[in-house]
Amino acid sequence: MQLNKIMVVGAGQMGAGIAQVCATAGLHVLLYDVSEASLKKGIAGIQKRLQRALEKGKLTGEARQAAVNRLASSTTLEDAQSCDLVIEAAVENMEIKMDIFRQLDEYAPGHAILASNTSSLPITEIAAATKRPNQVIGMHFMNPVPVMKLVEVIRGLQTSNETFETVKQLAVRLEKTPVEVNDYPGFAANRILMPMINEAIYAVYEGVSSPEDIDTVMKLGMNHPMGPLQLADFIGLDTCLYIMEVLHEGFGDSKYRPCPLLRKYVKAGWLGKKTGQGFYSYQG
Ligand SMILES: NC(=O)c1ccc[n+]([C@@H]2O[C@H](COP(=O)([O-])OP(=O)(O)OC[C@H]3O[C@@H](n4cnc5c(N)ncnc54)[C@H](O)[C@@H]3O)[C@@H](O)[C@H]2O)c1
Repeated sequence: MQLNKIMVVGAGQMGAGIAQVCATAGLHVLLYDVSEASLKKGIAGIQKRLQRALEKGKLTGEARQAAVNRLASSTTLEDAQSCDLVIEAAVENMEIKMDIFRQLDEYAPGHAILASNTSSLPITEIAAATKRPNQVIGMHFMNPVPVMKLVEVIRGLQTSNETFETVKQLAVRLEKTPVEVNDYPGFAANRILMPMINEAIYAVYEGVSSPEDIDTVMKLGMNHPMGPLQLADFIGLDTCLYIMEVLHEGFGDSKYRPCPLLRKYVKAGWLGKKTGQGFYSYQG
């Protein structure tokens, strides 16, 4: 299917990044958010990043202007009626996503594909909120979207081949590498990454070594660009805990139990970089 116009729902760090790469790749993009402040912040962030790309010589002045011209903000989900595809990147909350998909199903034209950028919630269940489960799919971008090359393309139980192919081709058009993944808790990326991070936290909890030393082991010993505890701080410890709980509940296997130290930090409000304190301190 030929995609001309898309809507991105949620203008936070992921939604704004997705809108940016889509507008740069030649698609007309409507960016929607329930919060006007988030929408303004999202659009301003895109303009700033496009300007920086221009200054670095990665984008011509013409291409920057064309991308800006293709981007518009929207204040109602009803605007989905003019779109061929919607990519939802609102908060990671099943009730909110189900409600958004129910409305999108009502407003979007019959041919439109509805995609979610969820990092852990089941696509099959989100699809069941609509009358077009064959046109619902996961499109899991990585953060920061303009930089990271991977897109996990997640097939729900009823996702059609045509929907899958359209989304896969879109990922290529966005200069990303799509990887096909089936709909199981954590998909592939977080199923592998989060237990590693959780194990690193157990190693701190059990006194195996300090956070700095564990990160050094993984950087120098495994050639990881960033240690698991620093990465956890960057992702957000609340998000890490949430994903471990999705894995634990989804598989019913005790190997995914979240480390008590992770729970303790989250309860204390130590959520990592965003709150200034996690396994490392980011104050000042
Ligand atoms: N942060 C990451 O590293 C990352 C990576 C991959 C996927 N994701 C997923 O992307 C999604 C968004 O994450 P984020 O990091 O951008 O979060 P964020 O908090 O930066 O942005 C979420 C945005 O959703 C908006 N929102 C809330 N309810 C809404 C509604 N009903 N309709 C429209 N907008 C609504 C909020 O106002 C906010 O602007 C989540 O599902 C998350 O799991 C996040």
